[in-house]
Amino acid sequence: MIGLTAGLLALVASAAPRGETCYKCHAALPREGAIGEHVSEYEVSIHGRAKLGCDLCHGGDSTSNEKTIAHKGVLFSSDERSTVNAKHQPETCGGCHPNVLEAFKRSKHSQALVTAGIGPTCTTCHTAMGSGILKAEEVAATCKACHKPGGVAKDSGQALYAARLLVEVTSTQRAIRLAEALVKYSEKCNVKIPGSNRLTEARALFGGAAESWHMFDPSRTRESINNALKLVDEMRLDLEADRQGKQPPAKAEKHPAKKQPAGP
Ligand code: HEC
Ligand code: HEC
Ligand code: HEC
Ligand code: HEC
Ligand code: HEC
Repeated sequence: MIGLTAGLLALVASAAPRGETCYKCHAALPREGAIGEHVSEYEVSIHGRAKLGCDLCHGGDSTSNEKTIAHKGVLFSSDERSTVNAKHQPETCGGCHPNVLEAFKRSKHSQALVTAGIGPTCTTCHTAMGSGILKAEEVAATCKACHKPGGVAKDSGQALYAARLLVEVTSTQRAIRLAEALVKYSEKCNVKIPGSNRLTEARALFGGAAESWHMFDPSRTRESINNALKLVDEMRLDLEADRQGKQPPAKAEKHPAKKQPAGP
């Protein structure tokens, strides 16, 4: 993640958390190499944008400008005692993502990670610091790194299946976002959505899909997203029917045949 525009960098820098001495000192270090690049990744990551302090993942004392004091307890990720070592990431990340942690702990991956140190850990699939989520086309390659003939895990077709499933997960997420936009739009036009609590239910089901995904339980994941998708579809159909039966609001009347905008 290099090649940021100066404007974006300035924006991120000015948004640095107050009293965040780790970031202040590290942001001024050269940006190349494992140490420098990580800070650039942090700046564009969801965690950087949420202004999470470095110490929340690495430990240390983020009130001190003195390197030796600030680094107390901070260790290289390769050190088994480090909070960001492959084996400890689940607990470190899971402190803020407890549902994912609970699910992950029940997976074969967690067992393999704890016992043999060969299972994937959080950053295997989320890049350093969880700055992203794998794209569907990257999932297969990630799984295949271990699930292949002669690899550390058996090759039972999970890789391809997971990649296909992720495409469906992403399209379900899109459908839910679209439904959210529809609800917002309808509220603005004073159209009451029949049974709009179904959207809440669909969101919950989608959250459940994230959990079963981290358990690496494909059939449960598929069931959750299918049910979420069904609810969203029903809601949309009811909404369309309801709108046709009512006097449409002035704005919508001008273009009754036009598709509604997907959002702001
Ligand atoms: C005054 C500057 C300064 C401050 C403050 C600082 N660091 Fe560093 N940090 C460095 C430098 C320079 C390195 C490169 C290695 C070295 O010189 O120790 C580094 C290295 C690291 C490393 C690589 C592993 C290691 O131990 O070398 C991590 C992780 C790290 N810092 C995290 C943090 C965190 C978390 C904080 C705040 C709690 C922090 N740093 C505060 C300057 C600083
Ligand atoms: C969301 C958790 C998270 C946050 C926040 C975070 N890091 Fe990291 N950091 C990690 C993980 C995990 C690694 C290990 C790299 C990997 O697994 O790819 C890492 C690696 C590093 C490294 C490379 C050396 C090593 O130990 O591998 C440095 C240096 C570092 N982080 C500094 C920082 C600084 C400075 C900040 C704040 C600006 C920060 N980190 C914020 C999770 C985080
Ligand atoms: C101190 C709390 C904290 C820690 C520790 C933490 N996260 Fe996060 N994480 C957050 C917050 C806050 C968000 C943003 C949530 C939002 O905006 O919806 C987030 C977002 C994410 C997302 C994106 C979710 C989405 O809906 O797009 C992923 C993936 C993620 N974190 C993975 C990780 C990983 C992997 C680690 C460990 C390396 C980690 N997190 C450590 C607080 C944390
Ligand atoms: C083998 C790959 C893999 C591993 C290992 C993995 N994840 Fe994920 N994770 C994904 C994928 C793919 C998604 C996107 C699917 C989704 O949104 O449900 C995701 C989604 C997430 C989200 C967003 C969930 C939401 O509700 O939108 C968070 C947070 C997260 N992971 C955290 C973690 C943490 C913490 C760990 C370590 C305990 C971890 N992940 C381990 C692949 C993985
Ligand atoms: C770092 C190596 C590694 C990566 C990457 C990895 N796995 Fe695994 N996986 C393992 C190990 C080790 C096991 C347990 C031993 C076994 O089942 O062969 C396992 C077991 C599993 C199981 C349970 C197997 C069963 O038959 O019950 C599933 C499902 C699974 N992985 C799916 C995935 C998917 C999907 C991905 C990619 C998103 C993935 N794995 C990525 C190492 C990995």
